[in-house]
Formats: sequence, C-alpha cells, structure tokens
Amino acid sequence: MSAVAEHATPLTLVTELPTTGASKPRRSRRRCLICGGCCAAVLIILAVIILVLALTVFRVRDPVMTMNHLTIQRLSAGLGDVFSSQPLALNLTIVPDISIKNPNAVTFRFDATTTGLYYRGGEIGIAYGPPGTARAHRTIRMNLTVDVLADRVLDDRNLFDDLRAGSIPVTSSTMVGGRVKLLGVIKHHVELIMNCSFTLAVANQSILDQSCKRKIRL
Ligand SMILES: *[C@@H]1O[C@H](CO)[C@@H](O)[C@H](O)[C@H]1NC(C)=O
Ligand SMILES: *[C@@H]1O[C@H](CO)[C@@H](O)[C@H](O)[C@H]1NC(C)=O
Ligand SMILES: *[C@@H]1O[C@H](CO)[C@@H](O)[C@H](O)[C@H]1NC(C)=O
Ligand SMILES: *[C@@H]1O[C@H](CO)[C@@H](O)[C@H](O)[C@H]1NC(C)=O
Repeated sequence: MSAVAEHATPLTLVTELPTTGASKPRRSRRRCLICGGCCAAVLIILAVIILVLALTVFRVRDPVMTMNHLTIQRLSAGLGDVFSSQPLALNLTIVPDISIKNPNAVTFRFDATTTGLYYRGGEIGIAYGPPGTARAHRTIRMNLTVDVLADRVLDDRNLFDDLRAGSIPVTSSTMVGGRVKLLGVIKHHVELIMNCSFTLAVANQSILDQSCKRKIRL
C-alpha cells in the first residue's frame, strides 16, 4: 500500500508544473491512477491470500503427547544377599507407550525424549528415547522402556510398607523438545511435558489409578 502512495506523489508534482494545455498530463495521470489501483488490488489480494494461509494451512499448532498405555514388563521382588545391607532384590521395568500427534501441515522434528520415574519424590529410573520426526498430520507412537534402579527404591524405607499394602505409588515425567519449521523461515519451538501418576498393584502386576497431566513450554 505504501509503495503505491510513494509512486503517486512525485508524478502529481510534475503534472502540476505546466499551468496550460493539461490534456496530455491528465491522460498520463489517469493511466497512472489506474495502474496504481491495479497494483493496490494485487497487493491486497496477495495480502489476503497470505493471511488466509497463515490462519489455516500454515497456522502453527502445538503437537500433542498422550499416554496410550503403561505396562509393567517385569516386576519381581525377592530375597537378595541376606548378609548385605540390602536383603531385598527387585527387578522392575515400566514401559510407557506414548503418542506424539503433529496437527501441522509441516513436519515436527523432535529431539531425544527423556522419561524419568519417581518413587515418593526420588528418581528411581531414567530412559532416553531416540529423536525423530512426525510428518504433517501424522501421529508417531513409541515405547519408552525404563528400568528401575533397584537400589534407589530399596533405599526408601517406605517400600516395605508399600509392598505389604500391595501397591507402590509411582510418578513419571516425559519430556520432548522439538520444532516446527514453516517455509524454512519461521521456527516454532515447543517442549512437551507429560507427568503421570499411577499405582503398581504388586500381586497381579497391573497398573491402577493412572492419571496424566500435560504441559507445553514454548
Ligand atoms: C533380576 O534379574 C536378574 C537378571 O535379569 C536375575 O538374575 C535376578 O534373579 C532377578 N531378581 C529377582 C529378585 O527377580
Ligand atoms: C509397544 O509395545 C507393545 C507391547 O509390547 C507392542 O504391542 C507395540 O507394538 C509396541 N509399540 C511400538 C511402537 O513399538
Ligand atoms: C513434572 O514432574 C517433574 C519431575 O517430578 C517436576 O520437576 C515437574 O515440575 C512436573 N511438572 C508439572 C507440570 O507437574
Ligand atoms: C489387580 O489387583 C487390584 C487390587 O490389588 C485390583 O483393584 C485390580 O482390579 C486388579 N487388576 C486386575 C487386572 O486384575
């Protein structure tokens, strides 16, 4: 729009200089006005197209992470070295099965995922998933296998009580950082965080009371 205005002003100044015989300059002035009008119309149409594309196809939406399943791959507790400081031994692997949905018209590239497991506030296991890409409008699914570091759990004095009650409360935190690149220029960074809390039922090795909270950091 401003380009049209800049074009119009110097030309009108020139046409005002000769005071008589104004038929020729007037015609060129009209041509100039028509030309300027066309330019303005084209610019407005272009602006509308860009705006519509920006608001629809290329609008950046945040990817969504969801927890599909939590499975216990192995849970076994038994007697360890009776004469050591840790008479209990424990094997526990938890597999969160997650999805990352990319609602954008362009690819979402993400870095390695990090999943931490916590028992009563203390970290008991951490696992890193591979980086990857979720193509436009696609959902990518993966199993994040976390081995619990037995000594960290066994150090906790609450474990005896929890084992006796038959349920172990655990929380998990999964983090994925990534970016959506629009037309190679605009980069949109996001960090998806999903925290879940659940209870391991020891007797039948199942997961109870699972609830997850999602958060997005830009
Ligand atoms: C834990 O797993 C290891 C090897 O996978 C095995 O040797 C050990 O007996 C297991 N401990 C328990 C308590 O199941
Ligand atoms: C995740 O594990 C489950 C059960 O082991 C399996 O059925 C599923 O295909 C796995 N998913 C992926 C993406 O590997
Ligand atoms: C998620 O869990 C992690 C680890 O326990 C914690 O540091 C973080 O504050 C939690 N975030 C939310 C949003 O609850
Ligand atoms: C596992 O046991 C708990 C009680 O300890 C029960 O509430 C739950 O329904 C059981 N789950 C399955 C799949 O049997």
